[in-house]
Amino acid sequence: MKTYRIPNTELDVTRIAYGTWHLGGTWDHEPPTQDIKDRAARLIHTALECGINMIDLADIYTRGKSDTLVGDFLRQQPHLRDKIVLQEKAGIILREDSRPDEPARFDFSYAHLIKAVETSLSRLSTDHVDILLLHRPDPLVEPEEVARAFDDLQTSGKVRYFGVSNHTPLQIELLKKYVKQPLVINQLEVNLLHNDMIRDGVFANMQGGNYTGATGMLDYCRLNDIMIQAWSPVAGGKLFNPPADAPANVQAAAREIVRLAEKYYTTKEAIALAWLLRHPAKIQPIIGTLKPERIPDSVRADDIELTRIEWYRLFEAANGRSIP
Ligand SMILES: NC(=O)c1ccc[n+]([C@@H]2O[C@H](COP(=O)([O-])OP(=O)(O)OC[C@H]3O[C@@H](n4cnc5c(N)ncnc54)[C@H](OP(=O)(O)O)[C@@H]3O)[C@@H](O)[C@H]2O)c1
Repeated sequence: MKTYRIPNTELDVTRIAYGTWHLGGTWDHEPPTQDIKDRAARLIHTALECGINMIDLADIYTRGKSDTLVGDFLRQQPHLRDKIVLQEKAGIILREDSRPDEPARFDFSYAHLIKAVETSLSRLSTDHVDILLLHRPDPLVEPEEVARAFDDLQTSGKVRYFGVSNHTPLQIELLKKYVKQPLVINQLEVNLLHNDMIRDGVFANMQGGNYTGATGMLDYCRLNDIMIQAWSPVAGGKLFNPPADAPANVQAAAREIVRLAEKYYTTKEAIALAWLLRHPAKIQPIIGTLKPERIPDSVRADDIELTRIEWYRLFEAANGRSIP
């Protein structure tokens, strides 16, 4: 697969990464069943076989089971550790992970970030992760604490590079005032149906264009050499075979995807992902299928370069409106 060099790092990552949101099967406190363990091993093995070299994790995914299952895989095949870029996320505390009467919350305190990374490292059976992302912005963030945590995690060799997820440009600027390491990733929800980040710029200064001006994320990240990762890149499957009562724009995007899949002799997944890969910002989709056969179907996107007209046709269909 083709690769991107993540700016300000020495990491070359495949243009598509594999995500582990649901790898552990369930979000309860039960350990994974043998079936779930076997499926996880098959999924990771298939992703690597297909050429993917990056795995996205978060300490909360299936309450730690996703970390542990990737760790099981690495315990069995430790020689693969250095061939995989492991990206971890921290900063969320789920309800029921602390005392039952406490709310779910975000926590970017020094103590929480250090503890979260150490817990993940032990589950993953590795001494370091390549990238750590702050999962979702914490309104109570004290950036000095984040800076101290990043310094200690880097100095101890536990984390090589740092980034964020779901952060706005100003939230990143605030962190940058204190954090000395470059923030190299912003992981955001981007797909044909959730394309505000792209649409916002297209409709700038157009009458009736719904321009919000609120995000500016895309241009900010491009300007600051922050690689954008797209979570839910195929909109959780909503783009494929939508039910008859699905909104008209979803039906239209799905029809256009089928038409292009036929034209390119490829899969629907590949077309949906190729739409993201066509963007010159070098967006890296993180796929999350739990069906191993959909991984090769997805990585076929790497071979497709949509034309400008095809890109806009998909964009128009998904938005349910043309550019004025
Ligand atoms: N930073 C954040 O806040 C955040 C939030 C969410 C996710 N993430 C990351 O992003 C990764 C991907 O997210 P995601 O899982 O939502 O991505 P996704 O790849 O857009 O969606 C995966 C879902 O789409 C379904 N799907 C795929 N192809 C399909 C098809 N042809 N027909 C029907 N359904 C199909 C899958 O079902 P099957 O499993 O049956 O194939 C699965 O339920 C996660 O694993 C995680 O690493 C990050």
